[in-house]
Amino acid sequence: MRNPFHYGGVVSGESFCNRTREAADLRRSIENAEKLFVYSERRLGKTSLIRKVLADLPEDEYLTVYIDLWPTDGETSFVLTCAKAFSEAMASNTDKLLHTAKTFFSRLVPSVSANDDGKPVITFGFDQKRPDVPLLEEVLTMPAKAAQKEGKRIVVVFDEFQQILEYESDTVERLLRSTIQHQSDVAYIFCGSRKHLIRQMFMDSQRPMYRSGAHYPLGLIAEDHWQLFITEKFKETGKQIRPETISELCTLTEGHPFYTQHLCHPLWELTETGGEVSSDMIQQATGLLLERESYAFMNLWDSLTRNAKRLLKGVAAEPAGTQVFSAEFIRKYQLGSSSNVQRAVDLLLKKDILDKEDGGMVIPDRFFRLWINSKQ
Ligand SMILES: Nc1ncnc2c1ncn2[C@@H]1O[C@H](COP(=O)(O)OP(=O)(O)OP(=O)(O)O)[C@@H](O)[C@H]1O
Ligand SMILES: [Mg+2]
Repeated sequence: MRNPFHYGGVVSGESFCNRTREAADLRRSIENAEKLFVYSERRLGKTSLIRKVLADLPEDEYLTVYIDLWPTDGETSFVLTCAKAFSEAMASNTDKLLHTAKTFFSRLVPSVSANDDGKPVITFGFDQKRPDVPLLEEVLTMPAKAAQKEGKRIVVVFDEFQQILEYESDTVERLLRSTIQHQSDVAYIFCGSRKHLIRQMFMDSQRPMYRSGAHYPLGLIAEDHWQLFITEKFKETGKQIRPETISELCTLTEGHPFYTQHLCHPLWELTETGGEVSSDMIQQATGLLLERESYAFMNLWDSLTRNAKRLLKGVAAEPAGTQVFSAEFIRKYQLGSSSNVQRAVDLLLKKDILDKEDGGMVIPDRFFRLWINSKQ
């Protein structure tokens, strides 16, 4: 029997828990051809959710383009990545792929090969003889043209959108803004995992994408949904788990999808077929996972300043939403002054070890939080 809990990659179908409301919200946004910023801390399920929403759209009405910007590092790779994604979204066979690429991109030279599964894959080079054609604009105006040609509606998703902040200039960001403003029929979703960067992009009046779309912070999955999902997974595979055990598990992971699935994985392994999960198995499974991570956690911990460590200890031990700048917190965790707290917070936010959430602070890596607590 295969372990029914999956963590790491994109999850779909049977491995996808709830998110009914979120999927409906995104669907509405697409139907209205809105421009939407979707963001959350790492591994909260953005990509899985968006891919599900795209897959559920009626194929005969919608053209969907999903672009992962993670591997891009500047305007050139942005152009090539988009051109590839747009072409592949529009054409499934080699001839059509080449035709599409040639029709829409005058300065890009396409070549098609087959991947391991025999599916055609397109790559592009530049036509040096036609340097006058503005490449970026050509690529960005393609979705609207494609939609018109196909007689379909179109949705474009840029995943890992914060990556464009790493580019050498803000040309892409500026042109993207002016282009999408004129594409009232095209739905755009900008998705990212570095929350403060994404927020900064649409909330900072100095940035090109300022207020260019609505925003949608993705939250955790509530315990009620995990109760149904986890109970079902154990039951289907001939094992049992009690509601109070799931409750305990969700308290540890705070309902964070990745950590919840990650912890369920060894918990399922530890349970014999026909058996039931006991409370001490949760401790055993947690211990196992922390043990695996302990070397990395130890290194990370050693690299931090004393005040950063004290601050983290406090955040890890206190309930969610604790005010780290309060006099009580500063006294309890021997932080000395609010300027010490500020410095520690700045450092930890920059390193993505800490995250702002509803006015309070959270440690996004739920296992790191448990590890810190286990050391006190
Ligand atoms: N709806 C869900 N139901 C069950 N598990 C989920 C769900 N969404 C996410 N997960 C769990 O979280 C993991 C990460 O999901 P995903 O890659 O979609 O998140 P992400 O927010 O796009 O991550 P990243 O920040 O790395 O881009 C999955 O491998 C899975 O274990
Ligand atoms: Mg993702």
